[in-house]
Amino acid sequence: MTGTAVRQVAGWEALDSRGRPTVGCRVTLAGGGTGRVVVPSGKSTGGHEAHERRDGGARYGGFGARAAVASVNGALAEVVTGLDAADRTGLDQAMVEADGDEQLANLGANAVLAVSLAVLLALADQAREPLWRMLGPRQTVVLPRPMVNVISGGAHAGGALDLQDVLVVPAAPTFSEALERCARVRAGTAQVLRRGGAWTDLVADEGGLAAGLPTNEAALAAVTEGACAAGLEPGRHVSFALDLAANQFYGDGRYNLRLEGESLDATAWTERLAQWCERYELISIEDVLHEDDWAGWSGATRRLGDRRQVLGDDLFATNLSRLRRGISMGAANAVLVKPNQAGTVSRAEAVVREARQAGYATVVSARSGDTEDHWLADLAVGWQAGQIKVGSTQRSERTAKWNRLLEIEAELGPRAVLWAPGR
Ligand code: PGA
Ligand code: ZN
Repeated sequence: MTGTAVRQVAGWEALDSRGRPTVGCRVTLAGGGTGRVVVPSGKSTGGHEAHERRDGGARYGGFGARAAVASVNGALAEVVTGLDAADRTGLDQAMVEADGDEQLANLGANAVLAVSLAVLLALADQAREPLWRMLGPRQTVVLPRPMVNVISGGAHAGGALDLQDVLVVPAAPTFSEALERCARVRAGTAQVLRRGGAWTDLVADEGGLAAGLPTNEAALAAVTEGACAAGLEPGRHVSFALDLAANQFYGDGRYNLRLEGESLDATAWTERLAQWCERYELISIEDVLHEDDWAGWSGATRRLGDRRQVLGDDLFATNLSRLRRGISMGAANAVLVKPNQAGTVSRAEAVVREARQAGYATVVSARSGDTEDHWLADLAVGWQAGQIKVGSTQRSERTAKWNRLLEIEAELGPRAVLWAPGR
């Protein structure tokens, strides 16, 4: 046995930030390196994501993860024990084959990802290296630009808005200054909402402000005003982004805006977004249309993607073949990368590589149900992804990732530079 052979795999049922069960896993290598993870879980999940295994029944409203844990301690432990963790792709592939389903529906993507990540962390531990450096050692290290959730809607805020997130994207010389700008915009927006009588005392699933606003567009006006109230100039110091999560308000071929009382087809909805782009400093729009409206996505990318990021989350589901299809059709110009949509680290890594080759931007992303882990920050740095989205600047499962990036920045000093478009 080499030092990097997998010696032991142990899983347990843990909780995510929403209080739902998830999978915890610890992997120990023959040389003593260990990796420990608790995997995240989404709520506005796309139809093409790898499948989580859930228990059903009465426990935890059916969300129990005991069956997934049994996969970790049973079939997956059996498959990976003795394999060389240094061949991560081979090890991930062995787990995919053991599952037998592309979407990992049998053993569960939550189980497979837990082992895949714990193996990765164990390797870094064994090498006595930070994970980011093990993934991509470089002289100059590009830190990801944060995209920070300010106002939440959709499935993350009880449907308060039709759209899911309004985010701030800072322009700043360093990561820490960028993050401070985001926190200022959040505080400024909270003030603006409170003054306007919109509810801001509770936070949504990702720590964003859960506001009661009359229209979706009012959320864009509020963050713009919030930035100004914080002394930051929209378009200069900060810009904004949307995650529309359009699957959530799509039905019968139309985009149904409950707040506006309107039902628009893909073309009319895209035109509405183009109007918003003229009125507000929007530099990135995610999940513009339904996940299977490929033709609509190509049209929306032509219409909106000239000077801004058109970002596919549910559209691509961190799936290589869906990304390739998008590239061939000119659908979107950027891809969101969520390791648990893919089910293994090496699949997510392959998506990042393919995107880069095609000139698509990459945004590494947490889930709305996340955990205290901070490996996502290391993945974003190690892969040189350029951008990261983990929710707000509040709640510990969010700040765990920001704090890890702040730590890396502090350690590297001037060797760390903040990503900017074209870098
Ligand atoms: P989810 O939301 O984790 O609930 O899917 C995040 C997103 O849509 O980006
Ligand atoms: Zn999204």
